Amino acid sequence: MGQEATLLGWVHRVRDLGSLIFVDVRDRYGVTQVVARDDEGLLAQAKRLRPEFVVEVAGVVERRSDDTLNPKIATGEVEIAVRSIEVLNESKRPPFHIAEESPVSEDLRLKYRYLDLRRQRMQRNLQLRHRVVLAVRRALDEQGFLEIETPILAKSTPEGARDYLVPSRVHPGEFFALPQSPQIFKQILMISGMDRYFQIARCFRDEDLRADRQPEFTQIDMEVSFATPDIVFGIVERLMHAVCAAAGLTVETPFPRLTWADAMAKYGSDKPDLRIGMEIADVSDVFADSSFRVFRECVAEGGVIRALGVPGAGRYSRSQVDKLVDEAIALGASGLVWARRGPEGEVQSSILKVAGAETLGRLLESAEAGDADLVLVAAGSGEEPSVLLGKLRLELARREGLVDESRSALAWVVDFPMFEWNETEARHVSRHHPFTSPHDDDRHLLDGGDLGAIRAKAYDLVFNGWEIGGGSIRIHEQPLQRRIFELLKISDEDARSRFGFFLDALEFGTPPHGGIAFGVDRIVALLAGETSIRDVMAFPKTAAAVDLMTGAPSTVSPHQLRELHLQTEG
Ligand code: AMO
Repeated sequence: MGQEATLLGWVHRVRDLGSLIFVDVRDRYGVTQVVARDDEGLLAQAKRLRPEFVVEVAGVVERRSDDTLNPKIATGEVEIAVRSIEVLNESKRPPFHIAEESPVSEDLRLKYRYLDLRRQRMQRNLQLRHRVVLAVRRALDEQGFLEIETPILAKSTPEGARDYLVPSRVHPGEFFALPQSPQIFKQILMISGMDRYFQIARCFRDEDLRADRQPEFTQIDMEVSFATPDIVFGIVERLMHAVCAAAGLTVETPFPRLTWADAMAKYGSDKPDLRIGMEIADVSDVFADSSFRVFRECVAEGGVIRALGVPGAGRYSRSQVDKLVDEAIALGASGLVWARRGPEGEVQSSILKVAGAETLGRLLESAEAGDADLVLVAAGSGEEPSVLLGKLRLELARREGLVDESRSALAWVVDFPMFEWNETEARHVSRHHPFTSPHDDDRHLLDGGDLGAIRAKAYDLVFNGWEIGGGSIRIHEQPLQRRIFELLKISDEDARSRFGFFLDALEFGTPPHGGIAFGVDRIVALLAGETSIRDVMAFPKTAAAVDLMTGAPSTVSPHQLRELHLQTEG
């Protein structure tokens, strides 16, 4: 107390009490209360101040009077008794309040992003992002990784989205592709003997956007020579521990692992939110010989019956239950069966008459239903019923407050299928990317076996129901890589023109290697408690892939087009 202080910042708020004027001055570190009193000249100057004026204020630090103490902010116990106020710049009236977290349309926030970024929430988020990236660099440096930059003007990489293309001026008709990820470059760095690589890498994908997807985003991209999944998991667990610590969060390692098949069966999703209990049970056996024809025939035809117990929902009224069935149908279910115990312990169910109390009693037992649970049952083939129940699981857990918000649930999902069938292209495509190694036990299936049954050495890291990272052990033998291209119906000619340089490189002593990449934006959003990655990016694009502040993308002059040998239609 009593020191002289000078503040440089923005006027946050002004409270004019006549002979006493409080001015909140804001800078990157927070808000400080400044008070002008007694001196007529100073009061007159303070009266001129408007929100967002840039000021230099000098005065003496004093303890606030008891009635103005503010325990919510770091500077809440002190104020500055002002001696001089200088306006360094004025501001137009902003289109929305900076001082309040009042709701503002996202379009307006993005158009005036420079003002939006002045708000406390965005300041906090970008500071967290900085700390996370710093923690990544430290944690990976400590584990022997080298940070190496790879080109942005690059060649098309096969991550499955459309490329952003950049025309070459000096080579008419030729294009660079912006990298969808540094995948091939990082594998080449392993061939080069760099051993452990990482990069905070900007990636570009022209794909449909959502709250967790942007056309331009940042990865923590890494690759390790002589890697096994266990080695990658160990490195990543140390990394994530440090990243979470940067946000004040302690996570337990090692993270639990579950296979893709288990994740799909138990949670109906390859990115299960494990803050929720509620596992889906396989109750096919209960109905295999039951009198309920629809389910019995489903099982006989190789289908499955799955059940989900919803704690607390056993007390729903009949109309609430009916509404739930309607919701399931809106989600694509052909029907949804329910069962529960009534107040006297008697079985109640939508199929009581046709299935009988005995079968339904066994169903409730198999689904490990508690007294207050409502059990929902779906039938179908493959993953279908679990996927439907998985969607209901998320929705109902949220509605019933069954998500344990105090937990940070990180888990590995492993053994993803290597291929998936693409109906439109009538061929198998890679589920991860074509450089992913098949599981050792399934390698024999590559020659004439069921491609859909082949598991890959691919893994995702899942955090509270978000996929935050994905990677794999790669193919390091050239003949196997060529075989995979063949199975993907990528012709020799096509493979040579797209990845010839890489197929060549594979023949020069490629070490076994593997890696992973994480979405920085997703990790920071989760740690900041945001639901959209746009809120942790300084200058994101809208869902329609435009930048509302700069107006990009925009047309260019005919001269520029001519130089690039381009013509536009219309
Ligand atoms: P993948 O395509 O799974 O793998 O991407 C890795 C992680 O990047 C993030 N991510 C995105 N974040 C925001 N917007 C997007 N459009 C977007 N797309 C992906 C996700 C995802 O988990 N080369 C491989 C990695 C490897 O095999 O090492 C790759 O890019 O968090």
